[in-house]
Amino acid sequence: MEQNSRGIWGSRLGFILAAAGSAIGLGNIWRYPYVTGQNGGAAFVLLYVGCVLLVGLPVLIAELSLGRKTTLNPVGAFKAIVPKSLWPGVGYLGVLTGVGILSFYLVIAGWTLGYLVRTIIPSSESFDQFVANPYEEIGYFLAFLGLTMYVVLGGVEKGIERWSKFLMPALFVLVLLLIGYNFTLEGASKGIEFYLKPDFSKIQGSTVLAALGQAFFSLSLGMGTMITYGSYISKKENIPVSAVAVALSDTTIAFLAGLMIFPALFSVGVEPTSGPALVFNVLPRVFETMPGGTIVGVAFFLLLIIAALTSTVSLLEVPVAFLVDEKKWSRKKAVWVIALMTILAGMPSALSQGTVAWFTNVEFLGQQGFLSIMNRLFSDISLPVGGLFICLFVGWVWGTKNALEEIRIGADEQTIRLMGFWQFLVKYVCPVVIAAVLLNIFGVF
Ligand code: PHE
Repeated sequence: MEQNSRGIWGSRLGFILAAAGSAIGLGNIWRYPYVTGQNGGAAFVLLYVGCVLLVGLPVLIAELSLGRKTTLNPVGAFKAIVPKSLWPGVGYLGVLTGVGILSFYLVIAGWTLGYLVRTIIPSSESFDQFVANPYEEIGYFLAFLGLTMYVVLGGVEKGIERWSKFLMPALFVLVLLLIGYNFTLEGASKGIEFYLKPDFSKIQGSTVLAALGQAFFSLSLGMGTMITYGSYISKKENIPVSAVAVALSDTTIAFLAGLMIFPALFSVGVEPTSGPALVFNVLPRVFETMPGGTIVGVAFFLLLIIAALTSTVSLLEVPVAFLVDEKKWSRKKAVWVIALMTILAGMPSALSQGTVAWFTNVEFLGQQGFLSIMNRLFSDISLPVGGLFICLFVGWVWGTKNALEEIRIGADEQTIRLMGFWQFLVKYVCPVVIAAVLLNIFGVF
């Protein structure tokens, strides 16, 4: 079974669930609802789905095939195909982006740990007080980092795969249950309308960027996560079919998270534009009113923690795989060094929620606060930039013909026939769309 000593997924379902585990995370349940809220609701949802289908899915297939072909980390993958060129720079950008995203993602992941504790032991602290408390912020950040390190030290199959297998389906069921309950809340219909009835006058250039950034973030694209995860797939796997399964489950969970949040939001009277605090301000209030709410709340935050963990693991795995493959470090050393870098990079974000005034108020890229700036810089800009180069690389340098050779292995005839359309998307549509959206933020149009 082993292709080489790097490790390989134990089963087909194991791989799909691990990749879906990377994709499904805070991006779906924390980020998607607040970004949707900030961008006007239903019209944004349509744009988002469009970005997933036209750009996300093709890039996902491109990353997975590049990874399986080379069985390497993002830097090594580019090197293997064109040594002595600037292309591995795209891989380096991915490694850097991994640390960048992880550094603020762990802060939010820490909030989910904190909210699990607060659901069990009620606290009189408001959300704003909670996030401004440096001991809690840093403590939970470090705790979540520790959990992530523990899983990544375990390696590919035993560490990552085992966790994803049955916890993702459990999250799905719990979200459905909460939707059912939230629909019965007073004022729920207003939320459903906001979420599902598009008002196209709300679409601006920044809306499109937000939709594209959200698609990249949610599908874990543009920084080589899927190159890395692809490098652990066996040659028996049908790549396009796996990619569709991953994208479908990710988008479904995000869509359902919206159905869960928006009715509740209007019912408890929180503003849809309230930003990163949104989910944390809304859901605990729902749990309070709900019969058996404590148990539901505990189950919800537990599953959210697991969902976040399968994502932080995939974020840490990219720089670790790079150091293990390219620098021949031991997994252990790589994990510890990246963890220390993540702590350094993450402290300003952890202290940016009212603890340290400068980190809280600093403005850049249209965002206020260090955490929001990191989020904009790495998720909305760095991921699409990486994705643009991945498309150009697979479309024009490695070539979709060669990519197809790889995709053909393990795929059936019917799937292959559809790949002509994929070639067209990767070569022309994706680069043009991504470039246009990026140029737009720099005010070119
Ligand atoms: N996709 C993850 C989420 O939605 C976050 C992530 C982004 C993971 C990029 C890996 C790479 O939570």
